[in-house]
Amino acid sequence: MTDPSTAAPTADDLDRSREIGSDTASGTGTVRLGRGRGDDAIGVFPLCLGGNVFGWTADEKASFEILDAFVEAGGNFVDTADVYSAWADGHSGGESESVLGAWLRSRRAAGSMHVATKTGKLPGADLSADSVRSSLDASLERLGTDSVSLYFAHRDEEERDVAEIVDTFAGLVVDGRARTWGLSNFSAERVDAAVRAADDAGLPRPAALQNQGSAVSRTPADEVRAADRAGMLQLPWGALASGFLSGKYRRDADAPKTPRADAVAERYADDAGWAVLDAVRGVAQGRGAPVSAVAIAWLRSQGAVPVASASKRHQLDALVSGAIMELAADEVAAITDAG
Ligand SMILES: NC(=O)c1ccc[n+]([C@@H]2O[C@H](COP(=O)([O-])OP(=O)(O)OC[C@H]3O[C@@H](n4cnc5c(N)ncnc54)[C@H](OP(=O)(O)O)[C@@H]3O)[C@@H](O)[C@H]2O)c1
Repeated sequence: MTDPSTAAPTADDLDRSREIGSDTASGTGTVRLGRGRGDDAIGVFPLCLGGNVFGWTADEKASFEILDAFVEAGGNFVDTADVYSAWADGHSGGESESVLGAWLRSRRAAGSMHVATKTGKLPGADLSADSVRSSLDASLERLGTDSVSLYFAHRDEEERDVAEIVDTFAGLVVDGRARTWGLSNFSAERVDAAVRAADDAGLPRPAALQNQGSAVSRTPADEVRAADRAGMLQLPWGALASGFLSGKYRRDADAPKTPRADAVAERYADDAGWAVLDAVRGVAQGRGAPVSAVAIAWLRSQGAVPVASASKRHQLDALVSGAIMELAADEVAAITDAG
C-alpha cells in the first residue's frame, strides 16, 4: 500500500504555484526581499531552492533537471555559497556556483532567477573588505553574472567590529554588485548591532537572516524577533533537517541509502526528533500530502521563506507544494507543540 504521507502534489497545486511564480514583485504570491520600490523591488517565490547539492549529491544533469522543474513550477529564488561543496572528497568549493552558472548561461536565466550566495567559510577567507570583495568577484565569475540579488556573510566574526562588516556588504549594494545583503549564522545581538550600524551610517540594512531553522531544529526566538524588528526576511536553512523531515526516515526501519543518511540519523534520530517527525507525519497523513511539504508549510506559517534542497528531480514537487500549502491553526499547533 502506498504511504499517503509521501503522496505527490496534485496538478492543481502545481498550477497554483505557477501562478505565484508569475506574479510581479508587488503581486500577492511572492514575498518581498529588501526595501526596493518600483523596478528595484524584488519579489521572491515563497521557497528558496537550496544549492549545496549542485555538483555534490546532485550531478550537473540532475541539478539542471531540478532547476528546470523549479522554474517550471514558478520558482525564481536559489541559494548557494562559494564554499559549496568544499567538504566533499576532491572538491575545493565553487562547485555549486559553477553548476548554477552553467545552468544560468544555458537557460539565459540570469535576469529572471534571483541568486543568493555567501562568503566567509572557504579556508583563508574572512569578512575583511578585501576578502569579501575578491570572493564576490570569484562568485560572479563562476555564476557568469554582474551582480547577485542577495549576498550573505556566511558566518559571523565576533571579534570584528560589526560596523566594518556592514560597511563592506552594504557598500557592495551601493556599488550595484549585490541588490541586497544579508547575515547568516549571526546571533540576535549581532543582528541588532548590524542594523544599528547600518542606520547610523545611512547604509542599506541587511535584508535577510539565514540561520538554521526547521520543525526539528528551531531558530531561537530571539533571532526570529531580531530579524522581524529589522524587517529582515527569515530564510531558515536546512528546512527539512537535511532530509530527516522528508518522510523517508522511520523509527522502525534502517536509514535510507543516501550519502547524507548516516549523518542525518545521528543528528536527529532521537526521542525529540521522532516526536516532531511523528507530528509532521500525522498532519501529512491527515491531508494525504507529502511529509516534506508539511515541514515546509509549517516554516512558512512562522513567517519564513524556507531554504530547502532536492537531490533528485522527483523530490522537488513535494517542496513546491509546501510553498503554497496553508496549514490550519490546529495543524500548526500540533507540530509546534511537539518540539
Ligand atoms: N547558511 C548556512 O550556514 C547553511 C547551512 C546549510 C545549508 N544551507 C542552505 O540550505 C539548503 C538546504 O539545506 P540542506 O540541503 O542541508 O537540507 P534540507 O533542505 O533540510 O534537506 C534537503 C535534502 O533532503 C532530501 N530530500 C528533499 N526532498 C525530499 C523528498 N521529497 N523526498 C525524499 N528526500 C528528500 C534530499 O537529500 P538526500 O536525497 O540526499 O536524502 C535533499 O538534499 C542548502 O542547499 C543550502 O542552500 C545553508
